[in-house]
Amino acid sequence: MDDAAQLANHTDLSAYWMPFTANRQFKAAPRMVVSASGMYYQSDDGREILDGTAGLWCVNAGHARPEIAAAVHHQLMTLDYASSFNSGHPIAFDFASRLAKIAPPGLDRVFFVNSGSEAADTALKMAIAYHRARGEGQRTRLIGRERGYHGVGFGGISVGGLVNNRRAYPLLSADHIRHTADPANAFSRGLPDHGVERADDLEQLVALHGAETIAAVMVEPVAGAGGVLPPPKGYLERLRALCDKHGILLIFDEVITGFGRLGAPFASQLFGVTPDIMTTAKGITNATIPLGAVFASRKVHDALMQGPETVTEFFHGYTYSGHPVACAAGLATLDIYAREDLFAHAAARSADWETALHSLRDLPHVIDIRNVGLMGAIEFAPRPGAPAARGYEAMVGAFEAGLTVRFAGDFIALSPPLIITAEQIGRIAEILRGVISALD
Ligand SMILES: Cc1ncc(COP(=O)(O)O)c(C=O)c1O
Repeated sequence: MDDAAQLANHTDLSAYWMPFTANRQFKAAPRMVVSASGMYYQSDDGREILDGTAGLWCVNAGHARPEIAAAVHHQLMTLDYASSFNSGHPIAFDFASRLAKIAPPGLDRVFFVNSGSEAADTALKMAIAYHRARGEGQRTRLIGRERGYHGVGFGGISVGGLVNNRRAYPLLSADHIRHTADPANAFSRGLPDHGVERADDLEQLVALHGAETIAAVMVEPVAGAGGVLPPPKGYLERLRALCDKHGILLIFDEVITGFGRLGAPFASQLFGVTPDIMTTAKGITNATIPLGAVFASRKVHDALMQGPETVTEFFHGYTYSGHPVACAAGLATLDIYAREDLFAHAAARSADWETALHSLRDLPHVIDIRNVGLMGAIEFAPRPGAPAARGYEAMVGAFEAGLTVRFAGDFIALSPPLIITAEQIGRIAEILRGVISALD
């Protein structure tokens, strides 16, 4: 057993209050990993665990990339930190310029944050600030979608549509369009046929609230944590058209779908629908250093670049906005994506991925399988009297069998690193077949 594993075996688990985890359940039977490389973790009991989720949808280039480690080390020893409030350092400008080059058309103004949650709250504030700058300060209402996830800030949970994340807290003025899950779409491959009309829910909210009160609509192009729900054919286009009709900004949360997850730099490019603002995080640094970026269109950015030049245009920012070390990690990550053509690699693997996931359709309890790019979900019929139990047991069973999957209710979600091979896709299907077959 190596040093890291030995240390893990003697770890006191009591002090760490774990996020989004049933702490007591976990600490009674912990699942610990101690190192990672490429597509694999090593567990504290010395097993190799295939990373079926790219960490938490974020390690897109695979683990322990030496180029990123070297860039981070170099940056730490060159300029470890400098504020971005009224002073600058070149690497943040360089990184923003590089990001602008791969951004969807026109989304070439980049505001740095530290996480997906901060990106969501920043984007929502930006939308409200945009309307205010144009003399429409009454447009403050935010619209999200049921089953949407935009992190855990007050803005994100207000537009978010996951009830457990919302029910305990005071929320901002927000309303929601329906989610797009529909049993009529069960076992669709890629984008489902049914549900384009659910975008028209926005018309009803406009009728209810008045367009002049609505600042923005925020959706994930593919809902992630809410169940991996690819958009129905034509749905995003219709949402875009309705936003244009009513002067409402469209925000895409691409925290998961950005940086190649769907085989294109961003979902926006894959689907051919460009939002006004786009949030990103996760894969932007291959998850090595926390960082997020909000991409704004010229329309939004330029509306705020008005008034006296001595006045701060957007009263918003974080101590670590544009952190030089995070930017160094991000630049090294973009280099890897480009050099290894990883977004194209993900696109090329998507067909194998789809076939492998849908090969599990015959298994007991499986009521739906969804996929797009290198994302996927397998949904189970809830066990009577024990909702979410099958999802949880599948997650634990997979870990024991050497695979990480994510669970959130009665489905498991998968999103492997983009470097995955055809053989590894086959291995994921094989492990899942064993695990799901054994579910009660
Ligand atoms: C779509 C989406 N938005 C926002 C977030 C929040 O990101 P973070 O956990 O970095 O705050 C997540 C996290 O999974 C996400 O999936």
